[in-house]
Amino acid sequence: MTISIKDEQGIAGMRLAGRLASEVLDFLTPHVQAGITTNALDKLAHDYITQVQQAIPAPLNYAPNGYNPYPKSICTSINHQVCHGIPNDKALKKGDIVNIDITVIKNGWHGDTSRMFVVGDGSIAAKRLCAMTYEAMWHGIVKVKPGARLGDIGHAIQLFAEGLGFSIVREFCGHGIGQVFHEEPQVLHYGKPGTLEELRPGMTFTIEPMVNAGKKDIRETGDGWTIVTRDHSLSAQWEHTVLVTPTGYEVLTLSAGSPPLPSFVTTTSC
Ligand code: MF3
Ligand code: CO
Ligand code: CO
Repeated sequence: MTISIKDEQGIAGMRLAGRLASEVLDFLTPHVQAGITTNALDKLAHDYITQVQQAIPAPLNYAPNGYNPYPKSICTSINHQVCHGIPNDKALKKGDIVNIDITVIKNGWHGDTSRMFVVGDGSIAAKRLCAMTYEAMWHGIVKVKPGARLGDIGHAIQLFAEGLGFSIVREFCGHGIGQVFHEEPQVLHYGKPGTLEELRPGMTFTIEPMVNAGKKDIRETGDGWTIVTRDHSLSAQWEHTVLVTPTGYEVLTLSAGSPPLPSFVTTTSC
């Protein structure tokens, strides 16, 4: 396995791309309301990325092996949709939970981040799933340091989420990221401590657990992209892009509107 190591110039590029991706979510936040369509959110994001940020929305026309080109600039995954939901003309409604996943390319570098939004007053169960999935992501992030292994990250996320009675999606994972959108390594959100690749300073990858309220099983829908839970239970996901520093981690996808840290997290960079 060859995992790219970013030098200072690459890290600077990743910091900028990461902040911009997060700022797109900040920009969209006041618009995520009952009545807006996900196509309208897609257009707002597309115009902001291309015109204000002078950047490229990485999903648009993205076509990994075996996939048709992705037709939109953002992913919007609602309720039982797990990931890769394609924006459409349907309006959001009160009680929906929505993942918005943003990837921008700036000066050739990728920043990839997603957050959950609850439309109006969500149910207690929906809000809890979103909040706990955020914590699950952070349980993985705080494991990141040189000498730790990818299995340590996956194990921490799995232990926390399954301990709450939720399940972790297996078919999709975090990924190395840099000048390529999806590169090595795969970052599983489950696993055994002390296994898999050892982390080294300069690695950049995403941590993006998909957590289901019901069973872990998923299926792909007829559009070739959207993934849903088989049992139609709610699913949540959060994503950050992180850098392995000489002594720990630096979260790259932060901005003014990033949500507060969970109580067990002391810093975004160490
Ligand atoms: N942003 C997603 C991820 O976290 C990938 C989306 S690919 C797309 O890896 F084509 F659906 F946009
Ligand atoms: Co990602
Ligand atoms: Co993403």
